[in-house]
Amino acid sequence: FVTPNASKIVILGDSGVGKTSLALRFTHNEFHDLELSTVGAKCFTKSVHVADKDVHFSIWDTAGQERFQSLAPIYYRNSRAAIIVYDITQKKSFHEAERWVDEMKRHGDEDLVIALIGNKSDLNEYREVKMKVAQEYALKNNLIFLETSAKTGEHVEDLFMKIAEMLPSV
Ligand code: GTP
Repeated sequence: FVTPNASKIVILGDSGVGKTSLALRFTHNEFHDLELSTVGAKCFTKSVHVADKDVHFSIWDTAGQERFQSLAPIYYRNSRAAIIVYDITQKKSFHEAERWVDEMKRHGDEDLVIALIGNKSDLNEYREVKMKVAQEYALKNNLIFLETSAKTGEHVEDLFMKIAEMLPSV
């Protein structure tokens, strides 16, 4: 069930970066070591109270596999925020995230809030993407930036709270 005045959020990024895991951690406080790859898309809902307003999220978790990419516009259309996720241990996924940022700037709503998220911060020893590089890219492009771990929960709540703060009251 999606509340009629819910704020639509879309999660985009390469396959395996942890999009479903972030949505599941935030909405159900769960993590699965063997999360299945998403087919099509999944919707998660949650309401939060922040800065004196209630925000109802309907969070569209899209499939990262190449063969589903043409569906993405269905899910980012009318979205108020886009969470673009990469895996800090996979450089390729960061380049994919940059591609999504470009696509959102071109085709997303004018006042779309965009967050760039480096997930799997618990795997720091396998890091391929420097935090400084991502941070500078985010600053230059006016994006929210955080490194998260869906596994430990680090900064997952912060991510959605930051987004909620930037959305208009409903
Ligand atoms: P698609 O549905 O194929 O687009 O993938 P996805 O981006 O939704 O990734 P998913 O959430 O399915 O996670 C992929 C794998 O990474 C799973 O085995 C998760 O358990 C694991 N994973 C997700 N987040 C984290 C994290 O923060 N840390 C670690 N160590 N593993 C993670």
